[in-house]
Amino acid sequence: MSVSTQTKNNKPRAKWSEKYGLPKRTRIEAKLSPWKKLVLLFKHRRFIWDAGWQALLARREGVIQDDEYKDRLQSTLGEYLNWYFTDKSFLHSIDWMGIPTRKLVTDVWVYQEIIFETKPDLIIEIGSFYGGSTLFLAQMLDLLGSGEVLSIDVSHDHFMPNHPRIRKITADCSDEAVVEQARELAKGKRVMVIHDGDHTAAAVERDLKLYAPLVTPDMYLIIEDGVVDLLDPRHSKVGRAYPGGGPMKAARRFLNEMEAHFELDMKRERFILTTNPKGYLRRKASMHQDHLTSL
Ligand SMILES: C[S@@+](CC[C@H](N)C(=O)[O-])C[C@H]1O[C@@H](n2cnc3c(N)ncnc32)[C@H](O)[C@@H]1O
Repeated sequence: MSVSTQTKNNKPRAKWSEKYGLPKRTRIEAKLSPWKKLVLLFKHRRFIWDAGWQALLARREGVIQDDEYKDRLQSTLGEYLNWYFTDKSFLHSIDWMGIPTRKLVTDVWVYQEIIFETKPDLIIEIGSFYGGSTLFLAQMLDLLGSGEVLSIDVSHDHFMPNHPRIRKITADCSDEAVVEQARELAKGKRVMVIHDGDHTAAAVERDLKLYAPLVTPDMYLIIEDGVVDLLDPRHSKVGRAYPGGGPMKAARRFLNEMEAHFELDMKRERFILTTNPKGYLRRKASMHQDHLTSL
């Protein structure tokens, strides 16, 4: 049995497994005669009827049967993401080792996978706030036994961690002197950059131009909080916060311009719930670092 990979308008059909870089499921290739198909349908009629009926009921009533959990588990993923960021008391309750962080837990797991796989010598975090995320990064490097984190923030007044792997620069990340210090520190190292600073599209674009050249081949450039571009401003306070567009808009533009140097890694969005849509970018291996410094 062959399955067409072309849609009606002749565009290739994106397969889920390919889009998200997941292992392909083995397809059972079967060439059945119409007669054999009829026999099989008859043989499994009970199962087919049950499955169809269940699917219909599940659509109407939902799959959760426990009344206590029904309400909270029947919201859409979009509603959940919106709630996660709108409910301030919830957002402010998320800690890493007792220090507040503004992360979605599935993204933190993805960070762990990236750090383990790429083993950066230097992680540049633009925007640290309380520092829960900075401490997380430093402790991941502790587990690997090497590396350091550079936290760049306009203010470290609220910054709580005190950790030997963390270095701080307190200034606007777009200051030429700051970029120069980061560049010096990055020399000869395997460098990963996380942008979690000013989320307006214009600022993200500006910062990517300055810091993307520091990311070394095979390492990641993470653009945080593109979720603000996903949320509909008519129904979401967070969606209204960036009328000129946010990080996802900037990430799309950056990828368009820089596709020779960076690629989107959709595998990092495979948990579906992410605050960083189009935000996990990997520097391509083939290009030499110098090609980028002239940006
Ligand atoms: C969303 S918070 C960072 C959250 C943190 N990474 C976490 O996950 O817990 C944004 C931070 O970016 C900082 N920031 C905003 N604009 C900046 C800029 N131009 N340069 C450096 N830091 C900036 C703010 O001071 C704030 O602490």
